[in-house]
Amino acid sequence: MGLICTPCWTFIYHLNVERRESLQPFERNVAKEKEGKSMESYLAKVVHFGINHIFQYHLWVTSGMNPSLNLYGCTLIVLAEWKPPVYDNTRGITLVTATTRRNSPNNLDSKIHHNNLLNNILAKIEGNNAQADDAIMLDKDGYVSETNATNIFLVKKGRILTPHADNCLPGITRATVMDLATKENLVVDERRISLSEFHTADEVWTTGTMGELNPVIRVDGRIVGDGRVGPMTQRLQKAYKKFTAVSGVPIPTLQQSREN
Ligand SMILES: Cc1ncc(COP(=O)(O)O)c(C=O)c1O
Repeated sequence: MGLICTPCWTFIYHLNVERRESLQPFERNVAKEKEGKSMESYLAKVVHFGINHIFQYHLWVTSGMNPSLNLYGCTLIVLAEWKPPVYDNTRGITLVTATTRRNSPNNLDSKIHHNNLLNNILAKIEGNNAQADDAIMLDKDGYVSETNATNIFLVKKGRILTPHADNCLPGITRATVMDLATKENLVVDERRISLSEFHTADEVWTTGTMGELNPVIRVDGRIVGDGRVGPMTQRLQKAYKKFTAVSGVPIPTLQQSREN
């Protein structure tokens, strides 16, 4: 198991139940060091430490293809990444559709957040070659699943749509944005969505921990809406910012960590 911590307020808040469970073997191993502190505060400490060191909690016996030969359980890797926002959330980003498909559960279930995302990397390279910020990936049936690194939403006639999480990662930012939209009394539908619906959407945005809500202003060369960040996107960006400001656990800045 690999876990990458990004140093933003939202990360700690977003350790959801599933991820907490996957951290349990690690929690047991470090129970002594942790001494009753919550996982959040422990991880905050680990991230703090990781700023100056690549921190690896690492004890294993090479297991080949057989996990049962691994005597020491999961490996937790925490990499503190200090970098500016990945996407331009003020002006918006551009997407192109990749030919490389996202996995269906027939192969490797896209619900697993694993480190073998080679087809996503190939899709991203297609995006790079087309000078786009990211690439839309279709599922095995040709419906939109997500982008190579984020979940995706559209707005049409005041309704928000996002693909079912059948062939994509059910991202924690996606779930938060869906909750926030419901609290704002907006309608959110999950269903299969075709590419042409994205081409004719009023607004499009993507979501992910590393970029939060990223407005999309062009898809496959077509301008989305009027080419500017739409009102629904702005409303949810504000709601997200407000929410994470009150519910997140602050992580020290790079400067603070160097001083300590
Ligand atoms: C393929 C993919 N989809 C979506 C996401 C967004 O997920 P989250 O909101 O949990 O960061 C990620 C994040 O790493 C991802 O790799």
